[in-house]
Amino acid sequence: MSLTKVYSFETNDKVSQALGEFIAQASSESIARNGRFTIAFSGGSLPATACKYLRNNQNIDFSKWYVFFADERCVKLDSHDSNFRLVREELLDYLVQQNRSIPADQVMVINDDLIHEPAKVADDYLVKMQSVFAEANKIRFPEFDLILLGIGPDGHTCSLFPKHPLLEVKNDWVASIDDSPKEPPQRITLTLPVVNHARRVAFVVTGAGKKSTVKAILDEKNTHMPASLVAPIKGDSYWFLDDAAAKGLTEN
Ligand code: 6PG
Repeated sequence: MSLTKVYSFETNDKVSQALGEFIAQASSESIARNGRFTIAFSGGSLPATACKYLRNNQNIDFSKWYVFFADERCVKLDSHDSNFRLVREELLDYLVQQNRSIPADQVMVINDDLIHEPAKVADDYLVKMQSVFAEANKIRFPEFDLILLGIGPDGHTCSLFPKHPLLEVKNDWVASIDDSPKEPPQRITLTLPVVNHARRVAFVVTGAGKKSTVKAILDEKNTHMPASLVAPIKGDSYWFLDDAAAKGLTEN
């Protein structure tokens, strides 16, 4: 039976510290078990919150990391809108400076030559996922060690938006979207079944502006919000909140 654990902290900085420790622990456990750590990052404020302390943690063996994106905008990799760019600036560049880089071929970015054809971006990304989850022909879905997710005010997570047909995807690992209600409209995203096959899913949500969304998901189980549909089959889900986002939760 999978668990949902909700943690809240006084400040955003304390969320960063606790999340950094959590990711480090997940990394150690995964490397001890499988010799590697597979992680997917979301965009928005998450990379800054997740990486503030993580990047200086000397106990992490980043050479064993395989980095993916829970969703990515179909833009050039150096674009202001790129989720990869956020992770590069918040983590990868720091690791280069410290001489403990994640090998470039273990950072799974979109092919940005294809950005005008999101379906091709998704096809290419699937091949990259299959290359890492090499047992792909034997397993139904990849099992990420950790997927880090944000939520939008509408309860979207990854690029899975309320009432969108992508919520019905049952078989695909990665999907493209041409009509995202949030700019930019063209994106790729991990699908709900992939998220729900992860060993750990961690939501990271800060700020008073999200408190009614957090309450709608955690207390009211509002299934119109895509984040409410995240329920790992074998893994656990974790919520890292600041007190402003957690305010009003009954079970906190
Ligand atoms: C995107 C973002 C987006 C983000 C949430 C939460 O590609 O548009 O990844 O889905 O994760 O909107 O963002 P904040 O944490 O910045 O509020």
